[in-house]
Amino acid sequence: MSTKLINEVKSSFKSTFKKDPLLIFSPGRINIIGEHTDYNGGFVFPAAVDKGIAAAIQKSDAGHSTAIALDLDSAIEFELDKLKPSKEGSWENYVFGVVAEIQNRNKVIGDFNIVLKGDIPAGSGMSSSAALENSVVFGLNELFDLSLTKTEMILISQKAEHNYVGVNCGIMDQYASMFGIKNNALLLDCRTIESKPYEIDFKDHQLMLINTNVKHSLSDSAYNDRRSACESVAALLKVATLRDASEEDLEKVMDKITPENYQKALYVIQEIDRTQKAAKAIENNDLETLGALIYASHNGLQHQYKVSCEELDFLVAQAKKNKKVLGARMMGGGFGGCTINLIAKSEAKAFADSVAISYKNKFNKECSVYFVELSDGTHIVQ
Ligand code: GLA
Repeated sequence: MSTKLINEVKSSFKSTFKKDPLLIFSPGRINIIGEHTDYNGGFVFPAAVDKGIAAAIQKSDAGHSTAIALDLDSAIEFELDKLKPSKEGSWENYVFGVVAEIQNRNKVIGDFNIVLKGDIPAGSGMSSSAALENSVVFGLNELFDLSLTKTEMILISQKAEHNYVGVNCGIMDQYASMFGIKNNALLLDCRTIESKPYEIDFKDHQLMLINTNVKHSLSDSAYNDRRSACESVAALLKVATLRDASEEDLEKVMDKITPENYQKALYVIQEIDRTQKAAKAIENNDLETLGALIYASHNGLQHQYKVSCEELDFLVAQAKKNKKVLGARMMGGGFGGCTINLIAKSEAKAFADSVAISYKNKFNKECSVYFVELSDGTHIVQ
């Protein structure tokens, strides 16, 4: 967590609102494996990171509420009883959505002021949106003694995203951001919303992110389309989610679904299995197997689930050429953002340098490399 970030929201809050705020840090996340499995009731394997959103929040007696996004140099005044979604793509929808979902649960909050700033690169697929939602719900819960559990808070964040942002996301991002544990990744069962922590120490290997620095448009509607396709196959199979289906079950309805949807559902069933195998591989310190599962995940996301893009595929292909990269895949919703790479520590710098050059040659733009620390979830900063 960046102390600088915290100090920035704190001093901005004090100079604007002349009060001492409550300070909150809410992290972004990575995901080792288990992509597009969360809304299918499956397993995911995320971890909170040391980048995220800092929030300074306090009650307001001005007769209205104010939210300020320092990164965007944008301030919005609003009244709690007149909330409706702003135009698509507006940052304030994350704040409004959380407030509205709290109110939907018959919890009473009063006016408040909040100042927000983040250090998660936009569009990197590291869930700045979940971090933002969680910072708001966590802060309001504290300020107005709402007695919400962490699980209730993440469900509020998720609903805000569904109803105010328009993305029918699963629970992975909000969960990882809220429940993260330092130096651990969480094997999360998205059906029960319970997780098992795995201490991550890959000895002479490490995780490295490479950001394509692209975010292709239409990714939100493509995301929602994938989710509906999965739900329609599950309905046909008469199961609650694809988590409850096997490859054999799917084969039996092959002639009732399009080849595209067959491949998508097959991907989900296989990815849920890979995620559980990845946890075993980590338990056994078997990084070769973990890496192979990560490459297989990308292959499915690229060819079966079709949520990758040229830039991501290029980065993974570069990784495959280097024997010191045990696994690489696109991370998050897709259509841009980062790849996650399992790489020998001794090779990380050389690989990052060579990929930067080849990426620039190919796409005439820069990629960015990040090393992240696995960190604690949303918390108050003293
Ligand atoms: C986005 C969503 C998550 C999850 C991933 C894909 O990050 O917010 O719920 O579905 O995509 O794994």
